[in-house]
Amino acid sequence: MAFPNAFLDEITARTDMIALVSLYTQPARKGTRWFARCPFHSEKTPSFSITPESGLFYCFGCQAGGGPIQFVMRAENLEFTDAVKLLAERLGLEVPEDGETGLRVRRERLIDINRMAARWFYETLGGAEGKPCADYMQSRGIRPDTARRFGLGYAPPRWEGIIAALSKQGVSTDELFAAGLVSRNRRGGVSDAFYDRLMFPIFDLRGLVAGFSGRALGDATPKYKNSAESPVYKKRDILYGAHIARKTARPYWILVEGNIDAFMLHQAGFDNAVATCGTALTDTQARLIARHTGELVLAYDSDEAGLKATQKAVVLCEAAGTRARVLNLRGAKDPDDFIQAHGAAGFEKLLAESQNHIEYRLSLLESQNQLGGDAGKLDYLRGATALLAALPNRGERELYAMRVAAKLGIDSKAVSRDVETASRKRVRAADKAYETKLVRPSARDTVTAAQSAAEMALALLLRFPELETSLTADDFETEAHKRLFENRSAPLSGDAAPLYAELMARYETLPNTAVALRDCERRMKSQSVPEDGEDSLMAKYRGYKETKTKEGGWL
Ligand code: UTP
Ligand code: MN
Repeated sequence: MAFPNAFLDEITARTDMIALVSLYTQPARKGTRWFARCPFHSEKTPSFSITPESGLFYCFGCQAGGGPIQFVMRAENLEFTDAVKLLAERLGLEVPEDGETGLRVRRERLIDINRMAARWFYETLGGAEGKPCADYMQSRGIRPDTARRFGLGYAPPRWEGIIAALSKQGVSTDELFAAGLVSRNRRGGVSDAFYDRLMFPIFDLRGLVAGFSGRALGDATPKYKNSAESPVYKKRDILYGAHIARKTARPYWILVEGNIDAFMLHQAGFDNAVATCGTALTDTQARLIARHTGELVLAYDSDEAGLKATQKAVVLCEAAGTRARVLNLRGAKDPDDFIQAHGAAGFEKLLAESQNHIEYRLSLLESQNQLGGDAGKLDYLRGATALLAALPNRGERELYAMRVAAKLGIDSKAVSRDVETASRKRVRAADKAYETKLVRPSARDTVTAAQSAAEMALALLLRFPELETSLTADDFETEAHKRLFENRSAPLSGDAAPLYAELMARYETLPNTAVALRDCERRMKSQSVPEDGEDSLMAKYRGYKETKTKEGGWL
């Protein structure tokens, strides 16, 4: 990393971890530590720990860990450099001049190149050559102001359009490849990657051009062609339209499948529409949504694939902490089709009628079972009970239990009682899983004696840097241990940060003693020591008083 360690230390020291974490979850004090529900995975009982004095966090559930920089990287989905800059900005610290890394320059260059390309596509659309594309847009009802707001453009039917234009502006062929704007042709030469297509720049959250999607004007295949992944364009992370939706006044976002659906909704006044770029909703995208809004309306295509994708998205959203509602497009293929037929007012009505996720799932369950017969009724009841038991709110459970009972023509008290029993069972199971994780995180089950000695040695060296050691990186078995050992003067500056946070969380109390370290060293270096697991090792040190330390005297 190109940032001076002193600068990174200052960021870590000055950041109030509790305040930072509170932006994403609600920590509560428990002894010297704080616990919260993990913002990075879904859970009912808090296993996300924060130690404010050291500025570290560690999740016993998903093993995420680190300091403020790693937290911001995860929470805001940023690269290391950008996370450092964000924190520095919040603290009012000036970023040192040499803070630019090679990657950073590359990313900025790619963004620049994309911006130049977007401008060229846009200008080409406006020129004489753009006529076919402008006609196509008109036929689809895309207004000029929408085209401008979304930077739409035209890749003309020329094999050397963007190449010629950007070469003149000093962009090399290698750089064009890196940005995914050119590809190798059959004769081994280089051609434009986009040919005769309506071009949509894909903006990142800040509104910078990360990549492109191009739609064929006619029946050419594929219908859509997307930029290849690059350091600035990761399909799984980006939501088309989010740079505008993040500023919406509406209290929810609308999620659609197609980019065209997204900007046609914006055109109709729904500035809260976003689209995944041709993939199923990912965990990262669900978290991005949850950071910006508490409610998501799903408006996927009304085909079989759209239905499947909807069900998956509902689950992901819930896990990320966003309530989901599902829109019924009433026979239209997609939101664009619906708006063409019924206008903005019609869509507004759909939104008002849209079902929340429970109603949606109950109606799905209903359609899957024949409620005319007893077997179907029982299956429906069983499914509904399990569904309702997962609701965190008792009032909500009661309300829907009543609806289910009414649907089946049975006593609602009985349904409610079953739901409550199932709900308590769920909570108990979650608590149990949490306790087991705390005692022995699953990922650590196969740690060898040498490795646990190595971890304790690392923990000692990290907490008491004044201790002297004869260890070298070669004495550590695993890559992660080696790296943390080498980085121990700045453990939060590299990818060893999560391990650092984990060790600090697990070895909360340590004997501050050279003797303990010597013992660990011996255990790591010699094969002949008896196999002591981590627990017995800790037991040995427990109760051992620092003041009684005398080198070698206690073994
Ligand atoms: P659809 O085929 O549903 O397109 O693909 P659409 O948005 O309704 O487009 P029109 O109305 O026919 O023009 C939805 C999304 O799936 C991705 C694109 O991101 C598209 O917006 N997709 C689709 C591809 O990436 N490649 C394809 O060949 C087709
Ligand atoms: Mn469509």
